Amino acid sequence: MTLRIALLITALSATLLASAQARSFAEIKASGTIKIATEAAFKPFNYYNGTKLTGFEVDLGNLLAKQMGLKVQWVVQPFDNLLIGLAQNRYDLVIASHGITPERQKAVDFSNPHYCTGGAIITRTNGPMTAQALAGKTVAVQVGTTYLDNIKKVSNVKEVKTFPKDSDAQSAVLLGRADAWVTDRFLGLEAVKAQNGKLVQGAMLFQERNGMPVKKGNASLLKEVNAALATVQSSGSYAKISQQYFGQDIRCK
Ligand code: ARG
Repeated sequence: MTLRIALLITALSATLLASAQARSFAEIKASGTIKIATEAAFKPFNYYNGTKLTGFEVDLGNLLAKQMGLKVQWVVQPFDNLLIGLAQNRYDLVIASHGITPERQKAVDFSNPHYCTGGAIITRTNGPMTAQALAGKTVAVQVGTTYLDNIKKVSNVKEVKTFPKDSDAQSAVLLGRADAWVTDRFLGLEAVKAQNGKLVQGAMLFQERNGMPVKKGNASLLKEVNAALATVQSSGSYAKISQQYFGQDIRCK
């Protein structure tokens, strides 16, 4: 086979892959297993406890699958790759604390929000606690996140440093390489506790509703996910895991 033909075939299969349809709920049901992707580096939402994948969103994904009569095959991907893999039909659903934004809604369809939260400033003691106080400061955020989008809107920030993982942004603040870190307010509370007086939580910069993306147009799966979410929210099982991880119910009110 000539190189030209080989390249042509590669290009053609890439096109086919990108345009292929996502698995409908009926197809997922027939296979018995839903593939759910997460990042596993956003504690307490999705993380590894030793080698065990766990967290509020992992427990929720398992609950939703059970409610839909399915087993789960978990797929772990860097945060910034999650929506790309979804478009390539590598998995059916993503649960990784994605804020529902108009920008993302162009690329994927979102479930109803599985929790409501906001992006907050976390800093060392005596660090900048408000948007105004970030003037002239260096701020660390995870790449591809709504924290990055929103910190860009704050005026006079000296520098925004991006990191592949949210935990790297936290380390930057602890090591004095950044003055503040913007992350999820619930994650921030946990980090403040874990760091034992080294970190404090400041103001919330913005609010967000976080949902679970499916491939754009996968209406049959979206419908079942929303129904399962409503059921676990009314049965008390959602409240139970939320209490377990956060000491409160974080559903949208
Ligand atoms: N809520 C933020 C966003 O929508 C951050 C999500 C980060 N999730 C993660 N698994 N690291 O962009």
